[in-house]
Amino acid sequence: MASPAITQPASTTPTLPASGQVVFVGAGPGDAELLTLKALRVLQTANVVIHDRLVSADVLALAKSDAQLINVGKQGFGPSTAQSDIHALIVKHARAGARVARLKGGDVTLFARLDEEIEALEAANLPWTIVPGITAASSAVANIGQSLTKRGRNGAVRLMTGHDTKGFADHDWQTLARPGEVAAIYMGVKAARFIQGRLLMHGADGETPVTIVENASRADERIIATTLAALPTDLAERCSGGPALTFLGLAPRAATRIQKSTEFHAQELA
Ligand SMILES: C[S@@+](CC[C@H](N)C(=O)[O-])C[C@H]1O[C@@H](n2cnc3c(N)ncnc32)[C@H](O)[C@@H]1O
Repeated sequence: MASPAITQPASTTPTLPASGQVVFVGAGPGDAELLTLKALRVLQTANVVIHDRLVSADVLALAKSDAQLINVGKQGFGPSTAQSDIHALIVKHARAGARVARLKGGDVTLFARLDEEIEALEAANLPWTIVPGITAASSAVANIGQSLTKRGRNGAVRLMTGHDTKGFADHDWQTLARPGEVAAIYMGVKAARFIQGRLLMHGADGETPVTIVENASRADERIIATTLAALPTDLAERCSGGPALTFLGLAPRAATRIQKSTEFHAQELA
């Protein structure tokens, strides 16, 4: 793909990372067209790309042809490269003078262990920068034709995880159980029954809409509209094991036909 021509005032012109630098790059949810121009520029200049499992093949294909690609990802609760080994790997390549792109799915500032990696670089006295990306919730909510906030419905939205270092994550269930609340739950598939139980215990209506978007923005994207009462059953029966985002309090918009971004692109090319 040719480099996009960008004309900007000198003060805001994105600078390419100098040798021996690390750039934390948000790879977006999968569709390579959801990469930022800055992310693309970093990918096209990095010598070493250290990436997580959720970074799509389409995005990786945009890396410099001679770049070294290193996969440090893990599958669900399965084995992974130890976080300390990832730190050592980033530091090793940056010290050797490489331009390192540390590529993470979605946005690097959300559920991505960014702070730990920054601390490792700071301990090694190495420079770093962040290029944000489109998080899975932003992509998934667009594909169900909804907003994360809506006047008169919810003036706040939670981006929350289904599990943390201690197991299933605890949250403010009492607030979340109120009508009109909206939450985007990352890593919520295995925790679905726990989340359902906590919400119902705190008075949530079993008919509260819940939408699961699996493989958001990818060719195999799947949207599952359900309710809080039916959530664990529908997840077990209809999800295929891909990364999935669970929206509490949102149903797909029914009134209009939602055109998938891939269809939109195909029409533009026609
Ligand atoms: C470790 S978190 C990383 C989140 C990522 N940093 C982001 O901003 O999207 C992984 C979780 O993000 C969600 N996720 C990531 N990519 C997704 C996709 N394409 N479709 C649906 N959910 C996705 C899933 O809940 C998955 O379990």
